[in-house]
Amino acid sequence: MKPRTLPDELLVRLAHEHGTPLYVYDGATITARARELLDLRASSGRGFDAVRYAQKANPSLAILRLLRSEGCHVDAVSGGELRRALAAGFAARDVLFCADLFDHDALALLAQHPFQLNAGSPFMLAQYAQLNPPRRDIVLRVNPGFGHGHDRKVTTGGEHSKHGIWHADLPAVAREARELGLDVAGLHVHIGSGSDLEHLSRAADALVAAAPLFASTLSSLSAGGGLPIPYRAGEPRFDCRPLAEVWDRARTRVERELGRSLRLELEPGRFLVAESGVLLAEARGSKRAGAVEYLFVDAGFHNLVRPAMYGAHHEISVLGRDAEPHVPQAVAGPLCESADVFTQAKGGALEPRALPRAQPGDVVCFHDAGAYAAAMASGYNSQLLAAEVLVHNGTARLVRPRQTHEALLRPELDLLE
Ligand code: LLP
Repeated sequence: MKPRTLPDELLVRLAHEHGTPLYVYDGATITARARELLDLRASSGRGFDAVRYAQKANPSLAILRLLRSEGCHVDAVSGGELRRALAAGFAARDVLFCADLFDHDALALLAQHPFQLNAGSPFMLAQYAQLNPPRRDIVLRVNPGFGHGHDRKVTTGGEHSKHGIWHADLPAVAREARELGLDVAGLHVHIGSGSDLEHLSRAADALVAAAPLFASTLSSLSAGGGLPIPYRAGEPRFDCRPLAEVWDRARTRVERELGRSLRLELEPGRFLVAESGVLLAEARGSKRAGAVEYLFVDAGFHNLVRPAMYGAHHEISVLGRDAEPHVPQAVAGPLCESADVFTQAKGGALEPRALPRAQPGDVVCFHDAGAYAAAMASGYNSQLLAAEVLVHNGTARLVRPRQTHEALLRPELDLLE
């Protein structure tokens, strides 16, 4: 069992006060992870010049503000995320827009504010140049020809990934950028989510190889995100030092070649927030289907889709019952969908888990739900988006209210009446 960072009594009280499903985030965990990365130093004494939070992991304004106050920069992938970055108080110049296409909304925002563009597709350059954007320095996201992540669905390099500019196309893209009057100031690579040191290090070589093409304009390199966290009890924590070492060496090689110093960025999402969060649900009852015992809770894949989507593992506990006998149970939610089970393997096979038996009303806690949980929530089966609480500096604060049925129905009714 992974230890919970917030006391059980507090979690139970919050579940009763705000209802379930409920996300609860621990601000101290977020600031500790941010400081770990901001303070990271390679043996040269240098670290990452910017830690850029990939807000897709959790776009809560409260969390964005917390990370801004720690000194993080931010990444955005949509017009909505650009607006969130501004609403959280980030200066537009500290926001990097990273996408493989523009929609009209994002383009309009890029025309208005000095956000920086990280282009993941060659066709974006001409569209961007046409805007007469406030910034002509851009970043290119490189697809190095390979990727790696905790699941093939989160692998973002290689021919089977839609992301980034194919490495062999970079010379042509360099020429096109020059013709359009754009300066390629940065090179960026992100090969996948939940990767490992070996692959994250190999990605550095791709940028070292590409850098000479942009020798006259290059001023920064980005290592992307993808740092894993231990989802299972007893799994070792990812050691960030070797990663800083490898990327610092890559930067130094490029600096020697270009004869000037470069900034180095890291762009983590999961690492900063995943372990800060829990999803709290209420046990509603148990039943059997043949040999399988099901525990039903009032949260489902509309609150945490990772098990259904990737067969991802999240530790589960029944608060107050750690000491009771554990029996294998499949934990299921309320959705009218067979995939609405939290205990499943990749491919969907049921994987009952040894858990204490819960009584209706017990609070069931899904661990490590700070990243890609609320962020990927849906309204399937007319379920409401759940409330979110941030516990920080001794206070627990509701930072997002539960959606209401009125808010769901009213706009439709207004159109029909
Ligand atoms: N930078 C770029 C360009 C990205 O595409 C991503 C993640 C990140 C940074 C942050 O990656 P992280 O440090 O969080 O691994 N929903 C999936 C993860 C999808 C990640 C998408 N891009 C999951 O729940 O595992």
